[in-house]
Amino acid sequence: MTPPHEIIEMVEPLPHVAIIMDGNGRWAKSRGLSRPEGHLAGAEAIKRIVKAALYRNLPVLTLFAFSSENRLRPEAEVNFLFNLMHRYFDEHLKDLAKEGVYIKITGEIDGLPQATLKLIEHAQNATRVNSKMTLQIAFNYGSQEEIVYAAKSIATKVSENKLSPADITKEVFEEHLRTAGLQSPDLIIRTSGEYRLSNFMLWQAAYAELYFTDVYWPDFNERELDVALKEYSTRERRFGRIIDDDNSNDKKNKSFHEKFSLEKASK
Ligand code: IPE
Ligand code: IPE
Ligand code: MG
Repeated sequence: MTPPHEIIEMVEPLPHVAIIMDGNGRWAKSRGLSRPEGHLAGAEAIKRIVKAALYRNLPVLTLFAFSSENRLRPEAEVNFLFNLMHRYFDEHLKDLAKEGVYIKITGEIDGLPQATLKLIEHAQNATRVNSKMTLQIAFNYGSQEEIVYAAKSIATKVSENKLSPADITKEVFEEHLRTAGLQSPDLIIRTSGEYRLSNFMLWQAAYAELYFTDVYWPDFNERELDVALKEYSTRERRFGRIIDDDNSNDKKNKSFHEKFSLEKASK
């Protein structure tokens, strides 16, 4: 298959892209359609973007499909969204598996309907050996719940003397998150003009680049993805450090540092 349009050149390492897919309802409303029709159009956008991510060799694509808080929506809409996930896998699991996609569902799965649990298990098992791209679907996912879950797992290990409190490091904590084993997102995209994370990957977003667009999710396409990737490629990720190729100020910095520390020391 050939890509739908020219793909931008990305400098390695390619980013883990996570998307907060928002705006299905408003997209539908703006067209005089129902919310379910908005979600159906959103599912089409998912198809497009998964393909686009594969073409671009992204190592991980995370899609925020359903939040813990989305359970507070009317029952009919919640059921519709659950059914949509079933339909998505019924229609695409085979192709995704063939394309080398590993599917990982991340979220609070305990307590989900039996049929959904089965579906998740099947999708994960059927793609377990794949390594071209990880498609992480955050489903029934909430970051605060995830952090509490990690804290509880760690507390249990401590109470069973399997872990000492002194050994709880950032890395150990991360291993107890629901996203354990996966790199954190490098780029988080949110569609629909909202400027918030809505309880998405609060821990993992510590140094993610954030990109917001007004485009409603059903209108998000390959080009929109490339605009986001291009913007990402211009960002300088410093992780708290100083990244400066220009050493012309080194002398000045050094003498100021020395003066300052002498002044401090003599006080
Ligand atoms: C995103 O679209 C899909 C989910 C959150 C499940 P919304 O349903 O939130 O759409 P808006 O925000 O009402 O437009
Ligand atoms: C975030 O969108 C959740 C998903 C995209 C799955 P919401 O529509 O639920 O977020 P809020 O309610 O506007 O913050
Ligand atoms: Mg929304």
